Amino acid sequence: MRALKHGTMRAHVALALAALVLAGDALQPALAGGFDYKDALTKTIIFLEAQRSGKLPPNNRVKWRGDSGLEDGKLANVDLTGGYYDAGDNVKYGLPLAFTVTTLAWTALAFKPELQSAKELDHVHEAIRWGTDYLLKCASRKKKLWVQVGDPNLDHQCWVRPENMKAPRTLYEIDEKTPGTEIAAETAAAFAASSMVFRHDKKYSRALLNKAKLLFLFAKSHQGSYDGECPFYCSYSGYNDELLWAATWLYLATKRQVYADFITHEAISSSVAEFSWDLKFPGAQVLLSEFNMTSGGGAQNFKTQADNFVCAVLPDTAFHQVFITPGGMIHLRDGANTQYVTGTSFLFIVYSDLLLRTGQSVMCGNQAVKPERLREFARQQMDYLLGANPRGSSYVVGFGANSPTQPHHRGASTPVLPPGYDVNCGLSFGEWFAPDRPNPNELTGAIMGGPDKDDRFVDKRANSSYTEPCTYINSLAIGPLAALAARGAQLVATH
Ligand SMILES: *[C@@H]1O[C@H](CO)[C@@H](O)[C@H](O)[C@H]1NC(C)=O
Ligand SMILES: *[C@@H]1O[C@H](CO)[C@@H](O)[C@H](O)[C@H]1NC(C)=O
Repeated sequence: MRALKHGTMRAHVALALAALVLAGDALQPALAGGFDYKDALTKTIIFLEAQRSGKLPPNNRVKWRGDSGLEDGKLANVDLTGGYYDAGDNVKYGLPLAFTVTTLAWTALAFKPELQSAKELDHVHEAIRWGTDYLLKCASRKKKLWVQVGDPNLDHQCWVRPENMKAPRTLYEIDEKTPGTEIAAETAAAFAASSMVFRHDKKYSRALLNKAKLLFLFAKSHQGSYDGECPFYCSYSGYNDELLWAATWLYLATKRQVYADFITHEAISSSVAEFSWDLKFPGAQVLLSEFNMTSGGGAQNFKTQADNFVCAVLPDTAFHQVFITPGGMIHLRDGANTQYVTGTSFLFIVYSDLLLRTGQSVMCGNQAVKPERLREFARQQMDYLLGANPRGSSYVVGFGANSPTQPHHRGASTPVLPPGYDVNCGLSFGEWFAPDRPNPNELTGAIMGGPDKDDRFVDKRANSSYTEPCTYINSLAIGPLAALAARGAQLVATH
């Protein structure tokens, strides 16, 4: 029942044209402000605990969740328990899972003081480790990576919570014969970034970094696009972005020249208007803008490309491409659209911090855009999700005004059943999916896919493009919310 989480690359073209219909965010300040960012922060992290697969620890805060997927890996005689369900179903997809971990690790690094002052740093570390422990199992064999557990088509024939699922836990892998550069490189990025987070735990950190190096080599030397998760997660953007992204994280983790050489001489980088689980160029560009390296054979430096991302998003530049709804929200395409909202907010705050530290502005042609403008835009985007929008409604479950009650999510919308209870899949949709009533279990902190391009939203679980949550929407919201909680609405850094 999952809708595709993305359109095709052709959608970008349509987008650029549609962007003529613009709305300033002049309307927003009147609506904005007064949000309890700390509460939103805490809740967005709790959502990740609702997505956990495997044997849950006693401190898991989502009381209606139990152990699940305890035999994952058995079909190949390996232990692949743990990790995360990505969204409203019970499949463990490797590509979005690894991206969730990479972005959580970046959050822990970039917003460490803010998370510390909110007493949430340990929770974020636990969230990362829940992912890396699983990914280490997936990468336990040489020249092989398990990339998915669960057959999505069979999974989708039953509306059942993961604790009671019956569909086969089919395993998917990549190896030398069937490569998958996107997923190998993204997993390398997740390991490299996490190795920096866990430096205080030398042994664990070294294990992560070793896997990162091996997987990057594997990704580079066995190139081939990975479509094994398509049509659920199709890589529309190819793998050049993941190779650059992985090399960037390896460079940051090791400062080794071999990665700098790859970045400057071999990697391909281009300017795009999107940062998502599929497309990571702007993330790498923001990270690399500090180092004055050039990309693509020296044509442009990464600062210019990071600037181009900002210029393509901001409505007040001559280069804007991204559609903004009348109520002021970034809208790229239906289907987890809020990932672009949280992802852009994340990059804007991280980039503004770097620009202020180095005394620079964003250059959009001749127009200089001050870092403060990036912060203001990021705050406005996050405020939209929290309730500063035409509906006056929150898009975060259990937070703020009129928050969603019907997230498209199997665990939240079905009753807690005894372990081993035999669910009738044929009847499950009529019993638990179709009825127009609130979910019995609150999916605390889940950010919905969000409203459409006219700021409309119908709180119905059948409408999955709008009501399905995803781990990577939330992973990218944690940093902005931590910054807002610690620094206040102006996002002025205190460190
Ligand atoms: C990058 O260039 C700027 C401006 O020329 C300079 O101040 C800075 O030190 C350079 N950074 C590095 C890492 O070389
Ligand atoms: C799904 O949501 C969209 C956007 O809010 C809305 O236009 C559409 O009518 C909804 N469909 C159903 C079946 O609720």
